[in-house]
Amino acid sequence: MQTATTLEMLRSSIAGLREEGGDSIALVPTMGALHEGHLTLIREARARADHVVASIFVNPRQFGPNEDLDAYPRQLERDSQLLAEEGVALLWAPPPGEVYPEGYATNVSVGGVSEGLCGADRPGHFDGVATVVLKLFNQVRPDMALFGEKDWQQLAVIRRMARDLDLTFPHVSAIHGVGIVREEDGLAMSSRNAYLSPENRRRAAALPRAMKDAAGLIEDGGDAARALSNLKETLRVAGFESVDYAELRDADSLAPLESDNGNARLFAAARIGGTRLIDNLAV
Ligand code: PAJ
Repeated sequence: MQTATTLEMLRSSIAGLREEGGDSIALVPTMGALHEGHLTLIREARARADHVVASIFVNPRQFGPNEDLDAYPRQLERDSQLLAEEGVALLWAPPPGEVYPEGYATNVSVGGVSEGLCGADRPGHFDGVATVVLKLFNQVRPDMALFGEKDWQQLAVIRRMARDLDLTFPHVSAIHGVGIVREEDGLAMSSRNAYLSPENRRRAAALPRAMKDAAGLIEDGGDAARALSNLKETLRVAGFESVDYAELRDADSLAPLESDNGNARLFAAARIGGTRLIDNLAV
């Protein structure tokens, strides 16, 4: 596996991969601290493309002023070994100054799908995501890119951007979503799970469990508002100190729903021991 840390190295490595032929390049953007969720994206990318490029960049622009940018786990050496074992051709791991050099002044802001849910709790977060992902797309110019459904709203924002800006590398149809990878007790894998104490880690399994119960009730024609308020109450009883949101939305447009429309998805974010966990589930 090659590793590029400057744009110049990246360009020459990408040109090398393109010359090798077989052509297709898949990009898997990450912030590192890799787990099975990330590695599943890599495996899916390998199945779909000739060459896989993975990026590791803890993007400062998507963290709010009171968020965990400094504490975010950084373990490049371990990550790099995992990626090499998965057959990744090229790791793009730039330092912040290479992505946002002195004088950097451009922001990408996607409306609509970025509003509400995590967009409401984390102002500017999706601007930061859209900006860095568009930069990564332009830097690597991949034929396809893969993102996890764990961050369903993020995937919707990136697809909206690709459609609205007529991206061709990758085209919106080549932005692939990959299903949520979970721990044995149902908790969605996340780099942030490492922040949880053993006790809170055990309690955290209440999030997917209670969401499944709520989704089941709504699917069976139960009152959605009641199912959602029960869900919030269950989480508080289980030890979550707050619930940022628990909402039913259309899976594609992310428009808020009062009841199941046949394409509904349940979204929730809640905090336990100061760690914010998110999850989503088809109804
Ligand atoms: P990060 O949180 O590192 O996630 C990288 C990719 O892995 C994202 O597409 C995310 O949805 C996916 N992922 C994480 N946990 C997953 C799980 N349990 N199951 C399936 N997929 C999972 O998301 C980001 O980084 C950043 O916002 C990024 C897109 C890299 C832009 O900075």
